[in-house]
Amino acid sequence: MTIKIVINSVQRTFDVQPDEVLLDVLRREGYLEVKGSCHAGDCGACTILLDGRPVASCLTLAAKADGHSLTTVRGIGDQAHPNVIQDAFVKNGAVQCGYCIPGAIVSAKALLDENINPTEDEIRLAMDSNYCRCTGYEQQLEAVLSAAEQLREDGTGKVSKK
Ligand code: FES
Ligand code: FES
Repeated sequence: MTIKIVINSVQRTFDVQPDEVLLDVLRREGYLEVKGSCHAGDCGACTILLDGRPVASCLTLAAKADGHSLTTVRGIGDQAHPNVIQDAFVKNGAVQCGYCIPGAIVSAKALLDENINPTEDEIRLAMDSNYCRCTGYEQQLEAVLSAAEQLREDGTGKVSKK
């Protein structure tokens, strides 16, 4: 079957199998920033935004995304133009091996797009599906608090336009 998806603001068309999940389609099509690990909805490495809401792409059928918009971490910012969350993760030492980071950044963006003044508990809840085996979670918590503070100071109220 053929599906049309807007990925990081670019319209794409893919031929997919009815039982293919988004994670496999995205990686096959070169979106290697989306990571796979457990393939069971447990680790959060594969998190993307589907119409702005975080989903596990390993559990989401590609066909379900037909006609919808996806955002991967690359659509939020990249090395040349990191967004405030990516900057905060680096500055707070919240990145080690980096494998969990695409999913963690995406979950943090979903939270901060809704709430630029989250409590620590709200951050923990928003990111409780994003496992990190390297950093412990305090640095990532500090990073999101720092990004939220920066957003409030900037007065933009949005992590990015994407
Ligand atoms: S690979 Fe999707 S949640 Fe782990
Ligand atoms: S930085 Fe290695 S798993 Fe999180």
